[in-house]
Amino acid sequence: MNAVRHKTNISNVLVIGSGGAGLRAAIEAKLSGVEVTVIGKRKKEDVHTVLAAGGINASFGNVDPKDSWQQHFADTMIEGYHLSEPKMVELMAKEAPGLVEEIDQWGANFAKLENGKIDQRYFGAHTYRRTCYSGDYTGRSILKALIKKAKELKIPIYDSQYVTELLVHNNLCFGAMAFDINNGERTVFLADSTILAAGGHTRIWRKSSSRRNENSGDAFYLGLKAGCKLKDMELVQFHPTGMVVPEEIAGTLVTEAVRGEGGHLINGKGERYMAKYDADRMELSTRDRVAMANYLEIAEGRGSKNGGVYLDISHKSKEFIIQKLPRMYRQFLDTLMLDISKEPMEVAPTAHYSMGGIEVDPETHNTGVEGLFAAGECTGGLHGANRLGGNSLAEILIFGKRAGHHASQRSLSLDIQYRSKQVIREAHANIDRFLKHGDQVARPLQRELRNIMWEHCGVVRTEDKLEEGLRRIEKLKISVKLLDVRPDSEGFEDLMLAFDLEGAIMAAEATILGAKARKESRGAHQRADYIDTHKEHEVNYTIRLEANRKLVLGKEKLKPLTDELRSLVDDTDEITDFEGMLLE
Ligand code: FUM
Repeated sequence: MNAVRHKTNISNVLVIGSGGAGLRAAIEAKLSGVEVTVIGKRKKEDVHTVLAAGGINASFGNVDPKDSWQQHFADTMIEGYHLSEPKMVELMAKEAPGLVEEIDQWGANFAKLENGKIDQRYFGAHTYRRTCYSGDYTGRSILKALIKKAKELKIPIYDSQYVTELLVHNNLCFGAMAFDINNGERTVFLADSTILAAGGHTRIWRKSSSRRNENSGDAFYLGLKAGCKLKDMELVQFHPTGMVVPEEIAGTLVTEAVRGEGGHLINGKGERYMAKYDADRMELSTRDRVAMANYLEIAEGRGSKNGGVYLDISHKSKEFIIQKLPRMYRQFLDTLMLDISKEPMEVAPTAHYSMGGIEVDPETHNTGVEGLFAAGECTGGLHGANRLGGNSLAEILIFGKRAGHHASQRSLSLDIQYRSKQVIREAHANIDRFLKHGDQVARPLQRELRNIMWEHCGVVRTEDKLEEGLRRIEKLKISVKLLDVRPDSEGFEDLMLAFDLEGAIMAAEATILGAKARKESRGAHQRADYIDTHKEHEVNYTIRLEANRKLVLGKEKLKPLTDELRSLVDDTDEITDFEGMLLE
């Protein structure tokens, strides 16, 4: 007789991930009249959304009346180097104002102008001021408002749940297997629709704005195993300004709002070097360009004393800085006893955002696996080859809402609920295989992976380096088989790290395969051996997982622009003289 090895939780819609996208999806599903369960691996107030600091975009035109959804659309398409899915960009640009108003009313408490309208600041490469903000903690404000709303709606949110497997049979998803990181207790979460909103993979680079144990690529791994396709995994945004010291927190984000509020980038020789790279937009050029400029200043020996460049806002008054950038002011005082109203910060590029991800239908965010939806950073398509700052917070609200709506509609339309005991037995076996003694532990292997990605698939890439990165990853895979995982008084963290590592390795391999295929430089993907942008690479590179656990690369044509949308892009000046220039 089989002993019951798990608890069971049944809901109509299961949401995996308790960040902004997951919560917005859950709220929408609940408002549609279905039962929802949210599970997250971290505490609900402590998710990646809080790191999106500087703001959220919506073309209100409150400060610059000429702004429009059409201009927001054109800016996003152009700065994404034309790889974005046009329908997704159109939906974001049209729906952002409504959802930004809504979250403000739910308590996000954005800064206001004297006339009571939402204030808007500059962010890099936007034609107009369209970034709405709460100081420099906008993601945190949005998250708080979402948690409050979810509480009002009595949506259950379970912390410390690590998802090991989506439960899929015959291309139909009926929930997920998870264990509790504190006590190992397993739960089978059964649902008509499941929404994956578990973030990206930027923690797998040594310098990263993500924190420990998050954004390690688990959403991509779960998606691949379930049968989803990933696209454009090589397109990873390196934010120009991460902290350089202290070493333990190198990579921690220094928000773009510092530049939006007038901060200057200065090299070790005291030069304001952005004049050389983008004289028109200076520090508010696109993220890929500012990141490359910082990278080159450092690589060519014009860096700061600790190997970064300087970001200086000390020409502004202390009162101004504390009002507009309160968290940055505290962050540097807390960690370095540095007063940014008196001294410059040292900064360098840091892995910040996964622009590629799970391929979804632009309107419903269905993944192609029946019953499985995805939203937020784990999806690909919106940002192309370079994300505009402030578009990620817009993305989580808009597409979280859409995924929640379509997931609940699917549930409401179902007559029969599907289950497979065999798939659940296999999900148990997938956990059991890790519970054994070995001679390897996960943390050093994770560090090795982070070094591999930084050295071989970082800001600037080459074929040789990418090849060598793949070879080093193959060696790591062998070590994963020898992991020592023994639950003890510390809980089941070992087991979580083992799954995290396995997922991170697959996300890394998918990224390198994409980076090898894209033999050109475009946006955030810079290749020293292919410095130009090529028409033949105006495609999306895809990755899927075969039954033998082999990753397979594919290529898809871009979705065409309608004539109306094409004319919006054509009517906007595009700065093209920059392509390839940096690496010559
Ligand atoms: O720099 C920042 O505040 C980041 C914002 C974003 O990634 O959208």
